[in-house]
Amino acid sequence: MCGIIGILGGEAAAPRLVDALKRLEYRGYDSAGIATLEAGGMARRRAAGKIRNLEAELNGNPLAGVSGIGHTRWATHGAPTENNAHPHATDKVAIVHNGIIENFRALRDELMKAGRKFESETDSEVIAHLISAGLDAGLNPEQATITAVRRLEGAFAIACLFAGHEDTLIGARKGSPLVVGLGDNETFLGSDAIAVSPFTTRVIYLEEGDTAILSRTKTKIIDAKDQVVERPVTVFSGGAAAVEKGNHRHFMQKEIYEQPETTGRTIARYVNAFDEKVEMPDLDGVDLAADSAILIGCGTAHYAGRVAEYWLEQIAGITVETDIASEFRYRKPAFGKKAFSVFVSQSGETADTLAALRYCKEQGLKTLAVVNVPESTIWRESDARLPTLAGPEIGVASTKAFTAQLSALAALTIAVGRAKGTLSSQEEGQLVRALMETPRLIADALAAEPEIEKIALELSHARDVLYLGRGVHYPVALEGALKLKEISYIHAEGYAAGELKHGPIALIDEETPVVVVAPHDALFEKTLSNMQEVAARGGKIVLITDEAGAATSGGIAKHIILAPACDSFVAPLVYSVPIQLLAYFTAVHKGTDVDQPRNLAKSVTVE
Ligand code: AGP
Repeated sequence: MCGIIGILGGEAAAPRLVDALKRLEYRGYDSAGIATLEAGGMARRRAAGKIRNLEAELNGNPLAGVSGIGHTRWATHGAPTENNAHPHATDKVAIVHNGIIENFRALRDELMKAGRKFESETDSEVIAHLISAGLDAGLNPEQATITAVRRLEGAFAIACLFAGHEDTLIGARKGSPLVVGLGDNETFLGSDAIAVSPFTTRVIYLEEGDTAILSRTKTKIIDAKDQVVERPVTVFSGGAAAVEKGNHRHFMQKEIYEQPETTGRTIARYVNAFDEKVEMPDLDGVDLAADSAILIGCGTAHYAGRVAEYWLEQIAGITVETDIASEFRYRKPAFGKKAFSVFVSQSGETADTLAALRYCKEQGLKTLAVVNVPESTIWRESDARLPTLAGPEIGVASTKAFTAQLSALAALTIAVGRAKGTLSSQEEGQLVRALMETPRLIADALAAEPEIEKIALELSHARDVLYLGRGVHYPVALEGALKLKEISYIHAEGYAAGELKHGPIALIDEETPVVVVAPHDALFEKTLSNMQEVAARGGKIVLITDEAGAATSGGIAKHIILAPACDSFVAPLVYSVPIQLLAYFTAVHKGTDVDQPRNLAKSVTVE
């Protein structure tokens, strides 16, 4: 997911643009660039690789000017080179873009036939030429930009700077988020509120199809129907804290350690501690007494849905379908008459999850979003939402968002059980009490860090790692494998422990560590027999369990990571901590880029 910043300011723009781009690094990128308006026109500096390369370029070749645009690029069309880095420009306009222009080839052919010369392999460059063609035809910047964006198919958020127009900055969005920041005689554009947070806390979240024509003192917003509209100004104060690591080495470590607080905040949002009951916000007609639910997400968010599948079936007694959004949206699934759909997403901008939401709405289903970013597209397009109060998650690997998603889904499960009449108020009270203990249990689970750091050193030498779990811990095993592979680059697979004999056991040898997620619950004995099959073949087991599990594991595991004893309902939240720490320290030992792993973006806003 690319990052965008635009500044119509009163002081040197270049350092401010670079500062804002550093706040956007968490989104993942592979090149960066800025452009500013100088007395003689527009000038650009771009560089492949990290922002430090762009800073080196600027040190040797500084840019003047008090207004400009900047971009961190996550390559979709064209290699991550300087030439493909944004901003893309003609002599009249410079633009930065987040998204994919699906009809760029036809537009490029048309523009080249009209004599325009392209310098990059990107889809984004057509935007600069389209706008420039409008300016050449005598349109003003506002008209030229609106005319151009109306021809674009696909997803975009753009910021545009115009030579000779010192007090104009234009932004437009369709399918990718864009916010306006309002300063004192300064105006800003950003991919998200964090990008503009160094300059202002007053933001306007643009809606789908909006174009914002900005001067230092005025903001004009034109909607998809060419009507001038007002959009509310909100205050965003989460920026500063979010982008500081505090005394942690990485954002991921900081966010793992924030989980007692972030799960506590999320649980408190849905629980009446005094009455020991769950209290749902207005769900705008989402009928929790429905016969079935569909839970959709990608990656970690999908695994949160998989955990909730067990909860909703076992506690609320409804049928549940879960699927990854990229498959669901093309499957054309049949729906039960009374079903509601749940979309789990940290960023609220994941293209596949958004497309699945839109598909369900077209099919007449009520849609409920479990989402972490306020005003994100999924937040706004769903019928109702259960916010996860994890705060901005900067590490690309999702940790605190995952346990916050589980917190909200656990509360939803209780609410559905009550609506279906499958939960007595006494049973509800017991589950609520278990939820309320979770932040403390997560803090207790963090105490295993020193042991985990040692075990991770061994794991860091492995070529392949297998994660096993049963029941609700099968998706926890899947999540553990995803965490490990995405930040340490070690191949890892999560498997249902009962599946071991149906193939994966062929992988077991002295070199393949097997991480087993198994609290001492009703399925522990079954999992113990799977561990015996692994040990009998020389497999090295890392068992994540509680005291009771450790006592009955018969010394079969090479390593035991102790988790606190807890109610089985909240065990998936508690056991998320050791699998996160195991992946984190393995990656640290391997020396990979923990917060911005190679090839990954924080939110995949393209298909
Ligand atoms: C999680 O560690 C990954 N970075 C990734 O799988 C992520 O969960 C997935 O892309 C979904 O993102 P979302 O929650 O923002 O929709």
